[in-house]
Amino acid sequence: MVALIVLTLLSLIGVSSSQTPDCTYSSLLTHLKLTPANDALQIMRPVKNWTTTTLVRMDMLMYGILHVDEKSQTLESHIWIQMSWENEFLTWNPSEFCGISRVTIPRSRLWLPDITIHEDASDTGSIYHGPQVYALSTGFVFSNSRQRLTSTCEMNLSMFPFDLQNCKITFASMNSYGAEITLGSLTNDSQLSKVSEEIMVTKGEWELEKLEIANESFIKGGESQYRLVYVITMSRKPLLYVVNLIVPLLYLLVLDLASFFISESRGEKLSFKITILLSISVLLLILQDMLPSTESTMPYIAIYCVCIFAVVGISVLEAMLVSFLFDLDSYCATMTRCIAETQEEIELEDGYHKEPLGDEEEAKEKQEKNFLPLDGTNILELLKLILGEVKAARLGTEQRREDAKQVGRYRKIAEIVDHIFFVLYFLTVIVFLTYMHLQWLSKVYM
Ligand SMILES: *[C@@H]1O[C@H](CO)[C@@H](O)[C@H](O)[C@H]1NC(C)=O
Ligand SMILES: *[C@@H]1O[C@H](CO)[C@@H](O)[C@H](O)[C@H]1NC(C)=O
Repeated sequence: MVALIVLTLLSLIGVSSSQTPDCTYSSLLTHLKLTPANDALQIMRPVKNWTTTTLVRMDMLMYGILHVDEKSQTLESHIWIQMSWENEFLTWNPSEFCGISRVTIPRSRLWLPDITIHEDASDTGSIYHGPQVYALSTGFVFSNSRQRLTSTCEMNLSMFPFDLQNCKITFASMNSYGAEITLGSLTNDSQLSKVSEEIMVTKGEWELEKLEIANESFIKGGESQYRLVYVITMSRKPLLYVVNLIVPLLYLLVLDLASFFISESRGEKLSFKITILLSISVLLLILQDMLPSTESTMPYIAIYCVCIFAVVGISVLEAMLVSFLFDLDSYCATMTRCIAETQEEIELEDGYHKEPLGDEEEAKEKQEKNFLPLDGTNILELLKLILGEVKAARLGTEQRREDAKQVGRYRKIAEIVDHIFFVLYFLTVIVFLTYMHLQWLSKVYM
């Protein structure tokens, strides 16, 4: 038994030494004619019959969503691209070359498909191709590259910040037609999105929902062409915006509602409301920095902010009206007091002037002049005079009472306006918040 094994081992050594196989790559490269003199492999599409189309299969892996710019509508991502195609001239039998089944070749030595990304808006400096590609003995060539990709992406921000964005990354050959190059994917989309989800390091405020692959053909220059479309579906993490924008605005609205309970007489109400208005305008400025100004459909958050601003603005106007009415009231009060005082003064002056002077003098005159006919008619006139005085005094007090009523009237009007406005305001806020909830929050991710 042992002798048998030794014999077979010896025979194996004998066979291998007799074949003396070349285990270096150079013999393989000579076999593949990958010499500097042979530049046919760089120039031509590697098919033996030109009517054969080259199927370029590729995978795009997403390593990170770096930045999403809503204003310029671009998505910045970090991607890895693997491409594979068949080179009909690079086949060999591994057993003839010491079992070499894989060889790396400089990129410049081989024909490479000119696949580009349609949405790519970045400069070429951000692409890094590995210096080499590798070929398998079956003739399949693999090429890897990584890229910091800035791609254009049409975003629909109407649901901001609860939005879901679909960004497309389209791969197509720049110069070849469908008869020459067709595109396919190496792995299916569910696998790819799973892998991307696992390897993704930076996502920022975004969550990768799914990665879908679609193969489309389209007509370009009269000839059909193929393209591979990756649809990246990602959702925004809205918590920061909820904490930073939506809740403070709601809180300011509630504060404005509560400000109706501040006493009017202090005069603080108006300044408080204006402070609220200013705070809202600061939040509006923050929002303006985030959203693009060229938006065909108004984002709900803009409607939300503008409506709150308008409602608070109207309530400031109402507070101004009420404070004006109160001012009018106090003005009237001082005016009537002045009038009353002047009247009193006039009356007093009249009294002082008339009674001590006029009355006595009159009486004296009368006594002097009409001393003799001091009879019933004279007493009657005196009585009439007294009656007139009393009437005038009474009229004066009634007038004053009327004025006092007038004084309270504006205050009353102001209070009524305030109450009615508060009820209307409250109802408007309820209706508005319900509308926003139904239109905006209830539709999130539906
Ligand atoms: C090339 O391919 C076409 C179509 O597949 C076929 O008709 C033709 O015979 C092929 N030519 C050669 C030389 O194999
Ligand atoms: C944006 O999305 C909203 C709801 O998701 C939709 O009603 C609206 O039509 C979309 N706008 C555009 C321009 O696609």
